[in-house]
Amino acid sequence: MVLTCCLVLALIFMTIQYFKLRANCEGGTGRNVVMLEEELDQVRNELKQLYLSDKCMPLMVRLAWHDAGTYSKWDKSGGAQASIRFQPESDHGANAGLKAALKRLEPIKAKHSTISYADLIQLASVVAIEHAGGPKIAFRSGRKDAPGPMQCTPDGRLPDGTKRQDHLRDIFYRMGFNDAEIVVLSGAHTLGRAHKDRSGFDGAWTANPLVFDNSYFTELLEGEKAGLLKLETDKVLLSEPGFRPHVERYAKDQEVFFKEYALAHKKLSELGAF
Ligand code: HEM
Repeated sequence: MVLTCCLVLALIFMTIQYFKLRANCEGGTGRNVVMLEEELDQVRNELKQLYLSDKCMPLMVRLAWHDAGTYSKWDKSGGAQASIRFQPESDHGANAGLKAALKRLEPIKAKHSTISYADLIQLASVVAIEHAGGPKIAFRSGRKDAPGPMQCTPDGRLPDGTKRQDHLRDIFYRMGFNDAEIVVLSGAHTLGRAHKDRSGFDGAWTANPLVFDNSYFTELLEGEKAGLLKLETDKVLLSEPGFRPHVERYAKDQEVFFKEYALAHKKLSELGAF
């Protein structure tokens, strides 16, 4: 009798362990895991090592933004839940080029099975910004991974660079941001560039696309310049009265930009997660 009970208990225990392991392998952590600071620091260091040999910081920032930026405050769907790793979301036009970003994170994920993909994606972005000279952004772990494609949001939740203020407000207000936050987050285009084969646009916004500073705003105020990119959604930050004063503030004072950027980015990185 005792032996049978022990066998049944052992069987139940092994079944639970099996399903936990499967959830880790297939669908990420599937639960909220708050990481130990020590292990988070190890992951931070591995990300820094990656950025020393592969200057993919802009790509990582775009990956994290596209994962979190699907959030809707209306029905609480989307957000920083790593649903970007599943089809159909990974194949949405706006996400062109981002599979390569996820692939770069796999070796780190393989070494740290307790970190969720959703945390790793957001941490990769925060570390990328700091590594490029930007502000330190507070990071909290515990994002839960979407278990499968059912959590993918419909196409069209991210902004379209050919549109103007009404579109920008529709998209960012849906996430819960205001006008100042739209402007400050647009300043992330201080990093990186557009690629013809991904978005159809071409070129960088600033002269030093691997440096995070306030040059996105100073360039914007200086107007069109040969070789530098300005999307419709960038230009509208100058012409729209609700946006322009913030462009001027951030161009004038990098410290103000860094302080407000860090807060808005933290909010973006936690959409739908906590
Ligand atoms: C305001 C609306 C926005 C529009 C219309 C927009 C559009 C775009 C487009 C078209 C690209 C080029 C993609 C490519 O061809 O590789 C791009 C790149 C990028 N975006 Fe945005 N974006 C917006 C907001 C943001 C925000 C809020 C962030 C981050 C917080 C961000 C971060 C980036 C980064 C870092 C890149 C460079 C990626 C690389 O170099 O590979 N963007 N964005």
